[in-house]
Amino acid sequence: MATAAEKHPVPAHVPPELVVDFDAYRPIKGGEHYHEPFLALQQKAPDIFWSPYNGGHWILTRRDHLAEAFADYGRFTSSKGASLNPTRPPNAPKLAPIELDPPTQQVFRKLFASAFIVSAIKARGEEARALAIELIDGLKSQGHCEFIKDFAQHLPIKIFMRMVDLPEEDRTTLLPLANAQVVADAPKEETIKLLFEYTGRHVMQRAANPGDDLISKIATAEIDGRPITVQEAVGVSTLLLIGGLDTVASMMGHIMQFLAQSPEHRCQLVEQPALIPTAVEEFLRRFALTNPARGVVEDMEFHGVTMRAGDRVLLSTPFGAVDPRDYADPLAIDFTRKSGTKTTFGAGPHVCPGSMLARLELKILLEEWLTRIPDFTLDPSDPPRLKTGVNGSFEHLPLLW
Ligand code: HEM
Repeated sequence: MATAAEKHPVPAHVPPELVVDFDAYRPIKGGEHYHEPFLALQQKAPDIFWSPYNGGHWILTRRDHLAEAFADYGRFTSSKGASLNPTRPPNAPKLAPIELDPPTQQVFRKLFASAFIVSAIKARGEEARALAIELIDGLKSQGHCEFIKDFAQHLPIKIFMRMVDLPEEDRTTLLPLANAQVVADAPKEETIKLLFEYTGRHVMQRAANPGDDLISKIATAEIDGRPITVQEAVGVSTLLLIGGLDTVASMMGHIMQFLAQSPEHRCQLVEQPALIPTAVEEFLRRFALTNPARGVVEDMEFHGVTMRAGDRVLLSTPFGAVDPRDYADPLAIDFTRKSGTKTTFGAGPHVCPGSMLARLELKILLEEWLTRIPDFTLDPSDPPRLKTGVNGSFEHLPLLW
């Protein structure tokens, strides 16, 4: 049997002219930036094409088609998994709500809604700013850092660990387990099993002795008038760990790699800090980095393409970021662009509940870093490294100042 990284036989209903040799989980061949291959394909590939990798699946390259599919759970189901190859141990919990469709998906989504409302996020913002200042002040006199390990894997992750009241020292154990779920070629089954065991222990403790935190709320919640089961609470809590641990850190990596190479953009933000909120929107637009999956519910035509029930479809948000139909010169960063993030956080029923927290943490990064370290570059002797899969992220980003 072919592995995910090898090509799979193309099904009979896929015409040869719609097959493109592109692996969205491993898009980088040489030293390109993560988003460049997506734009290159958008210019030369059919709007909807079949990739023979990762089991074989459709890819939608137009931003408007992505938005339509994100919203249309009747035709594009999440129940087959949010990634193309979700390998799970037997009897594993569902990662609710991301692996469910409405209306059940909405019932599970409500379990964590209160943690993401404006007042809750504002309170987190004060903690996040204090932590950002402490981290940057600690790094400043060094004249260099490895941004991912020294900053990005601290700020968003420590704030998230406080939301769920998990010990900060568990960060180093949880990070590789959560990262394995979003990186191609990382071991999935054994790592998610360890995550389930970890959240299982905490869910049971909090069900017996609830506190004020998010896991306690989930562990003691009601689903349609009956108590949530341990299995369900473990699924929701594990999804939050996967969603909360990698994405903001990844976005920070893309932003800092760009700023390290663009003194003009750094200067603009240092001289006009009022531009920072729109800069955050433009960075979120440009550096969309997640590739969630769907399954086709029944045989259908989608914009002239015949799809069969069970076909997998990848909703690669990097395509939405660089669609020239929406954005002139899409790879350029323009802080005056009225772009909107459109599909970076998805759309429709699963739209990211963490988007407000993510925006706030990115704003704090820009405000506090650029005030303290306005000039920095990449390290020419130690180039950045990407890791790709469900998310496209930096794993190594040395900076000098
Ligand atoms: C820049 C940072 C982030 C990006 C780019 C991002 C992206 C996304 C996207 C595209 C989706 C939709 C997935 C789908 O439709 O299948 C999503 C859903 C989700 N995200 Fe985020 N996310 C970010 C930050 C966060 C944070 C900070 C958290 C939690 C602390 C979080 C938790 C979730 C959860 C729980 C879902 C599933 C919602 C549902 O199924 O109803 N995300 N995210």
